[in-house]
Amino acid sequence: MAKALYPGSFDPVTFGHIDIIKRAADIFDELTVAVLNNKSKKPLFSVDERVSMLKEVCKDIPNVHVTSYSGLLAEYAEESGTDVIIRGLRAITDFEYELQMAQTNHKLSPSVDTVFLTTSLEYAYLSSSTVREVAAYGGDIHHFVPEAVAKKVYEKAGEKYNGNQ
Ligand code: COA
Repeated sequence: MAKALYPGSFDPVTFGHIDIIKRAADIFDELTVAVLNNKSKKPLFSVDERVSMLKEVCKDIPNVHVTSYSGLLAEYAEESGTDVIIRGLRAITDFEYELQMAQTNHKLSPSVDTVFLTTSLEYAYLSSSTVREVAAYGGDIHHFVPEAVAKKVYEKAGEKYNGNQ
């Protein structure tokens, strides 16, 4: 029984992430989607808010479980009995960073490998920061995120850009 882990910042979850989640859930018996902190980013949503949005969008996929972790990805992967870490590749520009991350994680936890899924073409341009920025200027983000997520992004982006955060 193969257990996979899809880690990320998910700030917020987009259709691009959901595409990877659905495809990974079809391949592996169990998929854990985990919100982890990327220390070089200043998130718009708290970890709990990101977990809650992910739970909402994954609620109909039976073998997907959503959680969060505050330490090293390699450590969490090993502790949770993960066989493979899933990462999405959107373009060649993602590759260098992803390769380095996969190799570092493999060095830290030799029992865990990384598997890359190429992002579907229709979402290759998409990123969470694009979604946040378009929303901040009042643009339409419904092509990028599900309705429930869009609502939350508009609320947060509005608060932030009105100086309440
Ligand atoms: N579709 C759409 N967008 C996608 C995507 C897809 N399939 N795959 C990635 N992205 C986007 C994300 O939205 C995000 O956009 P943003 O930069 O505009 O916010 C960007 O690609 C990359 O984000 P993400 O996949 O969330 O990775 P990350 O680089 O923010 O974080 C962690 C990766 C969280 C897994 C990594 O930082 C980590 O492991 N942290 C824990 C600490 C640790 O172990 N550090 C050592 C790592 S070697």
